[in-house]
Amino acid sequence: MKRKIKVGIIGGGTIGTALAHAVVADLKAFAQLRFLCEKHKEKAATLQKKFQFHAKLVPMTQLVRRSDLIIEAASPKVAAQVVKLACKWNKKVLIMSVGGLLQPQIAELLKKNLSRIFCPSGAITGVDGVLAAANGKIRKVRLITRKPPEALMGAAYFLKKRFPVLKTSSEERRVFRGVAAEAIEHFPQNINVAAVLSLAGLGPEKTQVEIWTSRAYKGNQHEVLVEGDFGTFTTVTKNRPAPGNPKTSYLAILSAIATLKKAFASVRVGT
Ligand SMILES: NC(=O)c1ccc[n+]([C@@H]2O[C@H](COP(=O)([O-])OP(=O)(O)OC[C@H]3O[C@@H](n4cnc5c(N)ncnc54)[C@H](O)[C@@H]3O)[C@@H](O)[C@H]2O)c1
Repeated sequence: MKRKIKVGIIGGGTIGTALAHAVVADLKAFAQLRFLCEKHKEKAATLQKKFQFHAKLVPMTQLVRRSDLIIEAASPKVAAQVVKLACKWNKKVLIMSVGGLLQPQIAELLKKNLSRIFCPSGAITGVDGVLAAANGKIRKVRLITRKPPEALMGAAYFLKKRFPVLKTSSEERRVFRGVAAEAIEHFPQNINVAAVLSLAGLGPEKTQVEIWTSRAYKGNQHEVLVEGDFGTFTTVTKNRPAPGNPKTSYLAILSAIATLKKAFASVRVGT
């Protein structure tokens, strides 16, 4: 019988916990959840209780060294650290905080490395189309993200800029327009989808991003508009929040589970 691969998860929040369940339930034929790393003591204790028969709490470096597949579900800063460690030991890593991969240092490191990095589509649809279109010429990739105020508050951007005052419950305001590299810098925890789109298509300096807010928005919505030699396409994804976390879209979790399953599948559907 083939040895099961050892999985380690960094970040035991909404996504990390859901993926831990998925590894234990959906991937049990191929994988074993062996290690967890969570910086908050209380959350770490809860995780340990939940997965005590499966996983051990260990520091991040140890987790990367001892796991065959690492799942990062913590922050862009952690994503960059994990990728650096993974490159040292040629590991496979699934990254949720994809914005962390846009640092030039990381991009250079990945060019000459044997590690494998998986970036799920996350909370957007259309990444399959962008990946296919990128084999011809793409002229334009534009992301228009709509989020309720509570999903944007706390972003680094609003430490310098005042959050817009919305006069009516239906008023819509554009809070940001720029390229993906700037969007990730200003909204590191809110706009990983811009990083995913960049990596799939035109890169962080040419992928256009707009962020809008309104109290009328009930979940996170992402519109992807692409133009190239193939023609054009537009996708609109109206997300529902993940249970217990209004900032995280449920589709991001489902997409990560699909990416994990695809990594082990004998038939792999989609670009
Ligand atoms: N790719 C996408 O489409 C997409 C969608 C949603 C969220 N995300 C990203 O995925 C990540 C996880 O999202 P979430 O909703 O689970 O967030 P969350 O806040 O629920 O969980 C993050 C967890 O990581 C832990 N953590 C932070 N730094 C750590 C460190 N140094 N070591 C160990 N643990 C650490 C926190 O304590 C927290 O428990 C975030 O960076 C988020 O921006 C990506």
